[in-house]
Amino acid sequence: MLDKVKELIGEVNDFKATTKEELETFRIKYVGKKGILNDLFAEFKNVANDQKKEFGQALNTFKNAAEGKINEMKALLEDAALESDSLNDLTRPAEPLKLGSRHPISIVKNQIIDVFSRIGFTVSEGPEIEDDWHNFTALNLPEYHPARDMQDTFFIEQNPDILLRTHTSSVQTRYMENNQPPIRTLSPGRVFRNEDISARAHCIFHQVEGLYIDTDVSFADLKQTLLYFTQEMFGKSKIRLRPSYFPFTEPSAEVDIYWGLETETDYKITKGTGWLEIMGCGMVDPNVLKNANIDPTKYSGYAFGMGIERIAMLLYQIPDIRMFYENDVRFLEQFKAIN
Ligand code: PHE
Repeated sequence: MLDKVKELIGEVNDFKATTKEELETFRIKYVGKKGILNDLFAEFKNVANDQKKEFGQALNTFKNAAEGKINEMKALLEDAALESDSLNDLTRPAEPLKLGSRHPISIVKNQIIDVFSRIGFTVSEGPEIEDDWHNFTALNLPEYHPARDMQDTFFIEQNPDILLRTHTSSVQTRYMENNQPPIRTLSPGRVFRNEDISARAHCIFHQVEGLYIDTDVSFADLKQTLLYFTQEMFGKSKIRLRPSYFPFTEPSAEVDIYWGLETETDYKITKGTGWLEIMGCGMVDPNVLKNANIDPTKYSGYAFGMGIERIAMLLYQIPDIRMFYENDVRFLEQFKAIN
């Protein structure tokens, strides 16, 4: 008797239905009203007392196996039916294409480009692996210059030096070599500095630098352009320029925007001052023009440079720069491009 039940369990486990009808026949045969299971339960009273326990357990296993099988097969057949239904329906909508979203760095980069392109700037790009001339020397940073230490450099080769560009000013060097004024160009791109990685700093980041060269370009032009930019980009209309130093500009300045002190976050990000530093700028040093064969007695110009991550962190209140490079979809999908 027990052996028979065990055999039945094996039978049930091996069963496979390819149609609903087959499954129904199976159901009726094993668990239907007049099915094997009920017959076996009816036998139960005839089983010797000392075998009742084992027989009962075997019956339960059999019952569960049969019911489990029926449910499993039912689900399988339903799935298959759904699939073949949709294959037969040629009017059904196509599977939606999963669209990603633009990376926040690209969104902000495009916004910056958009603002400056409205006043005549075009985009120029250059190599990430640079030589010493374009990254340093042509920019009035000769080899002995202490300001080279401001930009901890990743060298690929030395003497002659090949390096990962530390700023996109190198693109402007190249642009000046190949174009005479008037020049209005923006250089967005990735830059590299040997810095410790933290919430605020990374060894890879992105910049947009701008260069404007023409006759009669003055510091007032620079300030007005930056004011226009901060208004368009942040909706803020107060800036201040603090004297600073860059080897390639003279005079040089850091640009602060007045962010305000209206909310707790304003206090936090401006350290209670209301002011935020957003970029460096200055009038192009005559030596830089000379190095690019542009006559400094005839032309003058201004330049500025900003980190895209920093601007994106401000605009989106992103607390940690490392989030940009982690490729975490939960972070990335929160940004929707408007351009
Ligand atoms: N190249 C500078 C930097 O990377 C930024 C800058 C550009 C400053 C142009 C002044 C003028 O820090």
